[in-house]
Amino acid sequence: MLNNTVRLKQRPYGFTDKNTWNISEEDLPELKDNEFLVKVNYISLDPAMRGWLDDVKSYLPPVQIGEVMRAGNTGEVVKSNNPKFKVGAKVMGWFGVQSYAVSEGKQVLDISQFGLPEEKFLSVLGMTGYTAYFGLLDVGLPKSGETIVVSGAAGAVGSIVGQIAKLKGLTVIGIAGGKEKCDHVVNDLGFDTCIDYKGMDVMKKIYEHTPKGVDIYFDNVGGEILDAILTRINKRARVVICGAISQYNATSRPSGPKNYLSLLVNRARMEGFIVLDYADRYQAAAMEMAQWMAEGKIKSFEHMEEGLENFPEIFNRLFSGEKRGKLVLKV
Ligand SMILES: NC(=O)c1ccc[n+]([C@@H]2O[C@H](COP(=O)([O-])OP(=O)(O)OC[C@H]3O[C@@H](n4cnc5c(N)ncnc54)[C@H](OP(=O)(O)O)[C@@H]3O)[C@@H](O)[C@H]2O)c1
Repeated sequence: MLNNTVRLKQRPYGFTDKNTWNISEEDLPELKDNEFLVKVNYISLDPAMRGWLDDVKSYLPPVQIGEVMRAGNTGEVVKSNNPKFKVGAKVMGWFGVQSYAVSEGKQVLDISQFGLPEEKFLSVLGMTGYTAYFGLLDVGLPKSGETIVVSGAAGAVGSIVGQIAKLKGLTVIGIAGGKEKCDHVVNDLGFDTCIDYKGMDVMKKIYEHTPKGVDIYFDNVGGEILDAILTRINKRARVVICGAISQYNATSRPSGPKNYLSLLVNRARMEGFIVLDYADRYQAAAMEMAQWMAEGKIKSFEHMEEGLENFPEIFNRLFSGEKRGKLVLKV
């Protein structure tokens, strides 16, 4: 049996391209005691993967040259020397950008019992959903009647943040690129309104749409949008630093937020978080989100692409915005 792999060939400067990756066919090793073989079905594509390619200190070690690209996945056990993971079991784990993976079960969850489509475990019921859930509820501390602005609103995390915020009784304003995405954010996801940041007069629109100011800003993008929202925050506002996708491919160091003194004037707080720190509460979050989904209170949208060989091109869609909801690659 052969394994198709995508390995890091050279570190990118700016955007990744085909020279970043080495795609090859390799023999699979024999399974040792306690190991099992997973046929990878779906690969989660996440903006954070770009950060893992840089040789800098971060919350996870960088992917090394020659290593299979790190990714979250779902798949099926097809051979097993491990009594806990039987052949036929559907599993979620960190198997990487490849068609097969050998595992001993570390950080692997058997998802067979849930009977839900596998890709949901890479979106609302996986890391994406947990990021939205803990970032909003634990860091944003929402209260009914408050106003929240969510950037990257049509993306994987932002789309869930806004829906949970609606459930909690907030006025929810999204920011997304283009009219089509903004229509989706309001009509399909139920946000109160959405600002097209690629349109005209963004600052004016932000001003118009936040007559009562902003109590929570859930930031997925950083850069100029963060600067703009800082001018609209209320007293005791919470600015949740989830990500800064506008900066991930920058070839110079990002400059800090220009309007940070607004935090001082408003006695406000800006706080970053990493979802991995909430691992002991993932299960509880997944149960609550599954309940909301079953009740029709939360919808999740996945944008599915196919073919491991297309990974280099599809990966850059995270940054070009040519997708809606969670970007997933079917192997
Ligand atoms: N802190 C954590 O533990 C954690 C965990 C997971 C993810 N994150 C972060 O959360 C953020 C969202 O992740 P995601 O999985 O939801 O990604 P996603 O689905 O790709 O959504 C991000 C959206 O950002 C928008 N975008 C791209 N480039 C932009 C730019 N230059 N300026 C403004 N918007 C831009 C795109 O939509 P448009 O077409 O609207 O531009 C894109 O769909 C990322 O920053 C990610 O790194 C953090």
